[in-house]
Amino acid sequence: MIDLHCHVLPALDDGALDLEDAIAMGAQADADGITAVCATPHIRHDHDVVIGELGGRVAELNDAFSAHGVSARVATGGEVAETAADALSDHELRQVSLGGGGRWILLEPAPGALGDRLDGCVERLAARGFRSVIAHPERHAAADLAPRLRRLVDAGALVQVTAAMLEHEHAAPVIVDLAERRLVHLVASDAHSSRGGRPVRLSGAVEALRESPSVRPHLDWIVSEAPAAILRGEDLEPPF
Ligand SMILES: [Fe+2]
Repeated sequence: MIDLHCHVLPALDDGALDLEDAIAMGAQADADGITAVCATPHIRHDHDVVIGELGGRVAELNDAFSAHGVSARVATGGEVAETAADALSDHELRQVSLGGGGRWILLEPAPGALGDRLDGCVERLAARGFRSVIAHPERHAAADLAPRLRRLVDAGALVQVTAAMLEHEHAAPVIVDLAERRLVHLVASDAHSSRGGRPVRLSGAVEALRESPSVRPHLDWIVSEAPAAILRGEDLEPPF
């Protein structure tokens, strides 16, 4: 499995507190059968992330993982705020694209319900040659969530939900319903620390989705095949 959304880089945004914390997150990935974790620090006005440093930081963390017996590999990436995307150059967008593949941008919706501005952002990114992965739409739920996601998907976006929400008694049925409507394409941890909050873990979400007969046949695509293609910067369309 591949985790496409994880704040694993130490002492950078609001993610891993220090190297020890990041290594513990890597150990969580190993324990869950996650072979690659995409480091997606916030690219947002309230976080002082220097895009040009990310490649070096990821290389350092991969070295630290190896030195501490963590098998999972770290890939480059970023979680680009809807409000920040337009101001980034094409070169910067390529640097924060998932896996450095130069194609897919993890796009964080602005706080509150999904709005028309997000559609515009996806369209402008597409005009510049990038496709969007919409991060955690369940956090931006409103009565029109499903039709809004449908429009974004029709515009070429894919949708990533938070794995832990599928282990949440009240949130899980809502997300499974979206998945059965073919509006969930990727599951990621969005973990920020080993010391609290969501762990680097996808297996619980997989088990929850496996309960749905219509989603079950696509689980491998959702947690392995599609994220691998995204990290390589390949175009892909959901087989469902
Ligand atoms: Fe995140």
